[in-house]
Amino acid sequence: MQKITIAIDGYSSTGKSTVAKQLADHLGYVYVDSGAMYRAVTLYAMQKGIISKKHFDVEKLKKSLSEIHLKFHKEAAWNKAHIFLNGKDVEDKIRNLEVSEFVSPIATIHEVRAKLVAQQQQMGLEKGVVMDGRDIGTVVFPRAELKIFMNASAEERAQRRYKELLARGEKIHLDEVLKNIQERDHIDTTRADSPLLQAKDAIVIDNSEMNLQDQFHTVLQLAKDRIAGRI
Ligand code: CDP
Ligand code: CDP
Repeated sequence: MQKITIAIDGYSSTGKSTVAKQLADHLGYVYVDSGAMYRAVTLYAMQKGIISKKHFDVEKLKKSLSEIHLKFHKEAAWNKAHIFLNGKDVEDKIRNLEVSEFVSPIATIHEVRAKLVAQQQQMGLEKGVVMDGRDIGTVVFPRAELKIFMNASAEERAQRRYKELLARGEKIHLDEVLKNIQERDHIDTTRADSPLLQAKDAIVIDNSEMNLQDQFHTVLQLAKDRIAGRI
């Protein structure tokens, strides 16, 4: 059967990665979490003292980019591919609130985006890929056969992320999570390079009132219709 490219963009904690992963598993496609790549670059910048609460050395980050090597590895024991930063599995280190606080400023830097977009496009060369992020349908794969744009209220999204972080053992408050989500929404939608915006040909799904199952069935139906040429 003909393979297509599926781009899933939208705001933080709208369920993009959950639905993208389910869809890829169901269709036998590759799933790529592009946000994990921006998070891994952020972790590198934090570890090297390039970014902190007090300063952000943009020039040093640009010079360091050639030393940053990212790779996804999949193993049967894991539910989803893990991201490796310079040979080290950092999947578990990139999801905390600290990385979330620095990732959007890092993602404004043109040179960072150019490097990651080139790698993402390489991963999608053979189609049969579901990628989620902020600029997948607009910049990475502007000719993707199916583009989904996901949204939900900020309060609902914060509740979802809060529960997730609590389950990981993080000691945080709901207010901090909501603030981080609102700040990232702002930076991501207003940056000069590849801002988060809905592609003209994207199908919008607001899942504030949808559970994971409803959301998956809605997106799967769209993918099946697109593959069969019905839409
Ligand atoms: O999971 P969550 O939606 O919170 O975030 P993510 O998908 O892991 O992305 C983290 C951050 O990386 C976003 O807030 C953006 O600043 C940036 N990002 C981006 O600029 N472009 C992408 N394609 C993916 C993520
Ligand atoms: O990738 P993104 O940041 O858009 O979201 P996610 O990581 O897939 O989902 C964030 C959290 O919200 C996860 O714990 C999901 O299980 C939950 N979620 C939900 O409960 N209901 C939805 N309709 C969508 C996501």
